Amino acid sequence: MSRYRLDKDEHGYFLSDTFSRQRSLRANFDEPSFLRRVGRAGKKNELVAKSVKVKPGLKVLDCTAGLGRDSFILAHLGCDVTMCERSSVLHCLLEDALTRAKHDERLAETTARMSLIKEDALSLLERSGGEFNVIYLDPMFPEKTGSAAVKGGMQYLQRFIGVDRDSEDLLRAALSTSDTRVVLKRPAHGGLIKLNVAPQHVFKNRNSRYEVYLTAASASAAST
Ligand SMILES: C[S@@+](CC[C@H](N)C(=O)[O-])C[C@H]1O[C@@H](n2cnc3c(N)ncnc32)[C@H](O)[C@@H]1O
Repeated sequence: MSRYRLDKDEHGYFLSDTFSRQRSLRANFDEPSFLRRVGRAGKKNELVAKSVKVKPGLKVLDCTAGLGRDSFILAHLGCDVTMCERSSVLHCLLEDALTRAKHDERLAETTARMSLIKEDALSLLERSGGEFNVIYLDPMFPEKTGSAAVKGGMQYLQRFIGVDRDSEDLLRAALSTSDTRVVLKRPAHGGLIKLNVAPQHVFKNRNSRYEVYLTAASASAAST
């Protein structure tokens, strides 16, 4: 029997880890704690929003959709978000969450601004040509232990997906697009991706660091 099982019940799809007692993994946008976070979300208290520099109609490509939480915050603040996820399992969980949310009147307006593609973002970036204002990258962090360890759904993802070892290629591909704001999320300590180009801005909180790169053409015009 394989360790992980994808199943469905009346609440939708979920992933179980038969080696763990942790609650199964689901993607959903209607958990009370997440709805409270969304209700408070703004440029001042959400670094994802500040680093993306959200505004209504901004076209964002989220290359690392995962459970769709960051994308949902951005869409809630008015961005049009295209999410890309390469794991079939994560794509299935997220697609299911989106379908359910589209029938929930608290979430439908936001999810109308979200779309999902099942693909490796590296190939999507290869053929995209300037249709996005912002490219957002949040690849899996290297695993931490103790108080720095991730919790909940992200802990599950860390076991299931592991580290995204091609993050450097993804950042390089994003930086090769022109006239784009590229935002890379990393752990607050360690896990840096070192290329021979430095971010123009860095925003930090206790857990995470958001690096902002402005690629040529937009670099001269943009400011934070
Ligand atoms: C840390 S999670 C993202 C969490 C997400 N920001 C959220 O708010 O739920 C990283 C996800 O990116 C996906 N991923 C990593 N590299 C990718 C790539 N090149 N193309 C598509 N998906 C990728 C992984 O499969 C994983 O689901």
